[in-house]
Amino acid sequence: MVEEDELDVENIDGVGPVTRDKLYAAGIYDIRQLLTLGPVELSELLGVNYDKAVDISNRSRQKLTELGLMGGQFALASDVLKHRMSIERITTGSNNLDNLLGGGIEVEALTEFYGEFGSGKTQICHTLCVTVQLPKEKKGLGAGAVYIDTENTFRPERIVAIAEHREISPDEALKRIFVGKAYNTSHQELLTREISNYIEKEGCKLVIIDSAMTHFRSEFLGRGTLADRQQRLNRYLHTLVRLAEIYHVAVVITNQVQAAPDTFFGDPTRPSGGHIMGHSSTYRIYLRKSGKNRIARIVDSPYHAEADTIFTLTDKGVADPEEGSKR
Ligand code: GTP
Ligand code: MG
Repeated sequence: MVEEDELDVENIDGVGPVTRDKLYAAGIYDIRQLLTLGPVELSELLGVNYDKAVDISNRSRQKLTELGLMGGQFALASDVLKHRMSIERITTGSNNLDNLLGGGIEVEALTEFYGEFGSGKTQICHTLCVTVQLPKEKKGLGAGAVYIDTENTFRPERIVAIAEHREISPDEALKRIFVGKAYNTSHQELLTREISNYIEKEGCKLVIIDSAMTHFRSEFLGRGTLADRQQRLNRYLHTLVRLAEIYHVAVVITNQVQAAPDTFFGDPTRPSGGHIMGHSSTYRIYLRKSGKNRIARIVDSPYHAEADTIFTLTDKGVADPEEGSKR
């Protein structure tokens, strides 16, 4: 076990008392917390130049490697495989969907669900907040969840119903979900910076952002350019990726689709956020409605074949479709 004081930012080589105090003043005490910031954010926060910020980041990473909390620069492929085999997963509530994902939602990864309205994104988020609390033998992680709600669609009543169906005390379930309502992009970023505290203090292993893009999309419509938005979104998504990797948690984000009028073949919709979004997510799952069922397709995965499966949405959240039910 690593002692808490070993993780204090003052242990980073090259961080003197002045820098340390600036970090403390910004509420950053822990090396992992510091690493969730990108070099640009760090340089702004500390009032140092970019190179100095990169240097501090590198030294922080080195420190975590020394403490055994992070891999080094290179690792043997056999060790990478061993690590991949041991990665924890959270059940979605549907065996079909779990199988599509190789066993469930992975920790240390960013999983994006995108699809049209009513396709089940928010229901999946609610279900995961409960299933993450299940013990490991029931394909949970016995841990809590942090939920950032940007569309005002978080419903504790749904949590109660989902928990009851899964033999979890609804009262207990509600006490392990920490909900932050984000009012705009800056507020969303602020809440996201707070997440590490909940992971640490409350033992959360799942982070939900439903939806990641809404505010970015609407706020940058009238002002600024698309490039500004993409840069800000890029920065935001990288924070989430780092959060997943550094704290060994699963990060799940949702995203809408928008019409792509230049598509001549196939589906004339695509996820919002452009390439930046696609390149940041580890796994992307495209959801479509099919009567009362839903079709999930895994796209752009580093190792899954492009495949699809079917699940359904019920009072108890995500589930497998009933026997014999057709698409
Ligand atoms: P947007 O956020 O609008 O883009 O949609 P979304 O993808 O988040 O959809 P959401 O997860 O909110 O799915 C809504 C659908 O879930 C509804 O159309 C219902 O089919 C289903 N649903 C939601 N709550 C319940 C429930 O309590 N019981 C049942 N059986 N189905 C539900
Ligand atoms: Mg929704």
